Amino acid sequence: MLVNKVDALNREELLEIVKIHKVYYPSGHMTKLFSDELLFSYYQLISDCAQDILIVKDNGGSIIGFAFLGNSFGAVMKNLILRNKIRMAFFCAKNFKYVISFFLDRFGCGSRGFNSSSDVRLISIVVNTDFRKGIGFNILEFIKTQLYPNLIVGLSVKTSNIHAVNFYIRNGFFVEKIIRDKIFMVSR
Ligand SMILES: CC(C)(COP(=O)(O)OP(=O)(O)OC[C@H]1O[C@@H](n2cnc3c(N)ncnc32)[C@H](O)[C@@H]1OP(=O)(O)O)[C@@H](O)C(=O)NCCC(=O)NCCS
Repeated sequence: MLVNKVDALNREELLEIVKIHKVYYPSGHMTKLFSDELLFSYYQLISDCAQDILIVKDNGGSIIGFAFLGNSFGAVMKNLILRNKIRMAFFCAKNFKYVISFFLDRFGCGSRGFNSSSDVRLISIVVNTDFRKGIGFNILEFIKTQLYPNLIVGLSVKTSNIHAVNFYIRNGFFVEKIIRDKIFMVSR
């Protein structure tokens, strides 16, 4: 299945992406607790700030995998809060523990001061893993060979996300730094 680079996503495509994230993203990540509306807003902001949007569709035209790359992810959480004040207030009240650990990680003793050697970051990659046909591999290959053959691609992944960590290592990424429950990896 072909990896396509697109300039923007329409509402239907964003809704498909939200659905894939809800089903296939592993638990343990704060976004897994987001309501559909909050997740929609999150991906809308990511697609607005992304440098590159990659999607893979099946033969029927449904999205079965996607990736976003860019360098300005920092603004996403800030704008998510600003655009969704009431939803975020409910979310914080309901998921107090996650919110505290997120902010401790980001602004306290976490990764804020760490400067990765990467030139561009893989912000999000999710695949409908029911297909099991190397779609994730194809997306990474496209990034490494067609988009950024001469640049260092960086990402962060939770230590608990063993499948993704193995996937990145299998595809030539190595560990740059580990901070708390997060592994920073680079493509070379
Ligand atoms: C991480 C992720 C993107 C990796 O994508 P993936 O498609 O599972 O990874 P691969 O491309 O390596 O393919 C996976 C499987 O397909 C198999 N495969 C590869 N090519 C194949 C082919 N041509 N035909 C059939 N199967 C194939 C692989 O052997 C592998 O099987 P295994 O996991 O049982 O060993 C995906 O697992 C995912 O979306 N995870 C949830 C979200 C997530 O954690 N994202 C990362 C956050 S940092």
